Amino acid sequence: MRPYDVILKKRNGMELSKEEIKFMVTGFVKGDVPDYQMAAFLMAVYFRHMNDVERYNLTEIMAHSGDTIDLSPIPGIKVDKHSTGGVGDKTTLVLAPMVSACGLPVAKMSGRGLGHTGGTIDKLEAIPGFRTSLSEEEFMKNVKEHGIAVVGQTANLAPADKKIYALRDVTATIDEISLIASSIMSKKLAAGADGIVLDVKVGSGAFMKNIASATDLARAMVDIGKRHGRETVALLTNMDRPLGNTVGNALEVKEAIETLKGNGPWDLEELCVELGAQMLRIGKIAQTLEEARKMLRDSIKSGKALNKFKELVEIQGGDPRVVDDTSLLGVSSKTYELKSPKDGYVYSMNAEEVGISSMMLGAGRTKKEDKIDLSVGIELMKKTGDEVKAGETLCVLYYNDDKRLQESIDTLLNAYDIKEVKPKEEKLVHGVVQ
Ligand code: URA
Repeated sequence: MRPYDVILKKRNGMELSKEEIKFMVTGFVKGDVPDYQMAAFLMAVYFRHMNDVERYNLTEIMAHSGDTIDLSPIPGIKVDKHSTGGVGDKTTLVLAPMVSACGLPVAKMSGRGLGHTGGTIDKLEAIPGFRTSLSEEEFMKNVKEHGIAVVGQTANLAPADKKIYALRDVTATIDEISLIASSIMSKKLAAGADGIVLDVKVGSGAFMKNIASATDLARAMVDIGKRHGRETVALLTNMDRPLGNTVGNALEVKEAIETLKGNGPWDLEELCVELGAQMLRIGKIAQTLEEARKMLRDSIKSGKALNKFKELVEIQGGDPRVVDDTSLLGVSSKTYELKSPKDGYVYSMNAEEVGISSMMLGAGRTKKEDKIDLSVGIELMKKTGDEVKAGETLCVLYYNDDKRLQESIDTLLNAYDIKEVKPKEEKLVHGVVQ
């Protein structure tokens, strides 16, 4: 077999066998298939796509390209959650302690932010002392004894995805359904959970800009999960505006803590309840979604979820006092209030531009090696649907570097579309695929 023949076959729109896909993927990981041939292969997949069986095989091969985690020593059903990436998405920080407080063990491996989207691991590092890297023994011990652990992905989890993703990133082949689905699901399968809840973001701040393409992606991932014997469900959720009212690492941790105290923005709390309800149902902690929703809301009202968050911080070496004194999170001291240029309603927002604006302040990275400033970001005082008067504050920029401010302001102003008419209410959850 030669890489040329596999590329040609896919370029001509034919179905690839498992052996052919394996030959390309394992060859690329070993260095036998060079970047230029893998790039041509990915572009062929981009234009010719893959069917369900090819996608399943690709995912399985990538999932087994490195370590796989065995969660079986942890009693009970283990359920993972994954977001396809959004702006202001601090869901895991709230959801993990909520579901753990309800009795479902959380053994979570999370990622870092790239581009305009943030990542849980960067956010957690805004907590002084918090260790996002634990040995496997410590990770398992914490889940067994405390019902919760949140760590960064180990270096050798689905290394094929890591290498392929880096190439996709520079060859305009990110946004193809089979490639995204296999990339996400290979990591989820390798991470070992019995059930998977997917938060597929739709809208201006997401990879999938409309409901039709998000539904296709959700169906592809659910199909892969089920074929691998994992109960999988996907929620299609709104990313036409940032989630919650903050974007940027320390600011988002602060908002997550407020949400666990019952003082958070409604969209963040509701999304956590909806995702958590699916997790509790799959984990057989609740019989119905209604029962699960009630348990999750109660976990906030009773303070149990907040206590679980504090416990998580403590057992991973962080300073638990941040829960009572969020000023310890180190949010930047310089602020700039961006005022509305006119009267009207926030008709729509470009969530991606908000994410880019926060990145420009230093909150995100354009390259994996970039160092980020955890203390900067944006607090949104007005979001889609809100009425605003000329001169009223739209949002507050938290910054350290004066040179970065103007570009970020310009981008943010572009992100707001203010009109005289009030927009229609937007749904938070567009649908469920299972
Ligand atoms: N997130 C991933 O992990 N992979 C993709 O391809 C897209 C988003």
